[in-house]
Amino acid sequence: MRSQDTTRGLVKYQQRYIDINKINKSFLDQSIIVNGWVRNKRIQSSLAFIEVFDGSTSKTIQITTDNLEYIEQLNKLSIGSSISVVGLVVLTPDESKVELRLESIEYMGLVDDPLTYILNAKKMSLDILREHQDVRVKTRTLNAVFRIRAGLSKATHNFFDMIGAKHLNPNIITTSDCEGAGEVFTVTNMLHKNNDIPMIKDTNQIDYSKDFFEKQAFLTVSSQLQLELLCAGLSKVWTSNKSFRSEKSKTTRHLAEFEHIEWEFAWIELGDLMDLSEHYTQYCFQFILDNHMDDLDELNKFTSKGVIDKLKLFCSKPYIRISYDDAIKLIQDNHQEILYKSKLNSLPVWGDDLGSECEKYIAEVIYNHPVFVYNYPKELKSFYMKQNSDGRTVQGCDLLVPGLGELIGSSVREHDYEKLTKIVEERKMDITPLKWYMDLRKNGSTPTAGAGLGFDRLVRICTGIDNIRDAVCFPVAYGECKL
Ligand code: 4AD
Ligand code: MG
Repeated sequence: MRSQDTTRGLVKYQQRYIDINKINKSFLDQSIIVNGWVRNKRIQSSLAFIEVFDGSTSKTIQITTDNLEYIEQLNKLSIGSSISVVGLVVLTPDESKVELRLESIEYMGLVDDPLTYILNAKKMSLDILREHQDVRVKTRTLNAVFRIRAGLSKATHNFFDMIGAKHLNPNIITTSDCEGAGEVFTVTNMLHKNNDIPMIKDTNQIDYSKDFFEKQAFLTVSSQLQLELLCAGLSKVWTSNKSFRSEKSKTTRHLAEFEHIEWEFAWIELGDLMDLSEHYTQYCFQFILDNHMDDLDELNKFTSKGVIDKLKLFCSKPYIRISYDDAIKLIQDNHQEILYKSKLNSLPVWGDDLGSECEKYIAEVIYNHPVFVYNYPKELKSFYMKQNSDGRTVQGCDLLVPGLGELIGSSVREHDYEKLTKIVEERKMDITPLKWYMDLRKNGSTPTAGAGLGFDRLVRICTGIDNIRDAVCFPVAYGECKL
């Protein structure tokens, strides 16, 4: 009974007005309500055309009238005005699509000063738009980007649901620095004015036992360790948590707060891990090609030429898989061209981080396709990665994508208690906050592997947007936190 009521409520809600993406020839000769914002207007002495968008699609619907009474009123509309319209659905003169013949209009919100209103400006760089959050979402570009972003969330839920993984979001405030890179933000309320703990004068002498959690706590850099706990009982888990990193990078790939799609699967190996990353990302690319062609067309026209071909290419064949050893060989074989193109002074040798320039060169110039690089030197990677029997490499694997660089970081985890203890000791790590993680290896320890994908970077790829700040709703990055 209850579920029926809910459905009825939903149907009623959907009938109140029609989303523009739903309007088609099946509505011919019906009067419908459309709500939206004016994208363009053309008003002549005896005819008026208003183009309206509502966020459901990159397409607009045209509203026409030859009613002189209305035409005069319509002059007060300008780009960005918000209106609610009742109109009769009719065919356009060429009969290719439908438009609305105006029957009545309600002016919900006019633009105060159309001459200075920023949406009226002919060209606006994405950098400048970021300073104008109120109109940013109304531009054709960001409107399409955010719809694709929402589409990618849906694709992600579909994909993990299809393969039976459970969606859980572990705690964001944590006591551990999963990656051990020291890029954490501390969470404290000691600096709050109304707190009875005195303000901190010397950061070396902070007594965290007097802080809110009675110990030092951070914003998480990765939910991996908690996912491993959940995996040891649910077998397949994933999260869409935010991660936070205080990396002082002002690049077009780094945010301080980013959406981190992470998954952890039990009983799988390095090859399975690569298959999973390949299937998930190709599913996302294909989902956007299948469901967001209008948005892609919009972006492909101006901001992101070539994005459609790129997504098709990425879906067309399996990704390349090379070992770190082979990646270093490739860099050596092409050293002159890389030095020339990247303007680097020197190139990595075995044991060094590949660096973003070389990563991009491998994916973009050598293969022009996504590339997995696996079996990295153990010193380069985090403590939890499973060591190979060669004693020098670990089963870690990064996915490098043309035009971006690293999209996914992943690994098989060391699930042997003795081996992990040895690694932790060699690295002289303080394992007090990680006791629970070590103990996970004691009772019914399970081989697991998992990965983390920067969702904002995925949005960058699928929209062809150059800067990660334009792939997120409200960017929070080094030196930038506006709202
Ligand atoms: O390679 P990372 O550091 O791996 C981890 O955090 C693992 N614990 C994940 C796991 O196995 N569960 O980060 C994973 C991905 C990167 O490949 C990158 O795409 C993204 O997270 N990322 C960032 N995205 C935006 N801004 C930043 N500052 C990012 N740092 C990492
Ligand atoms: Mg990484």
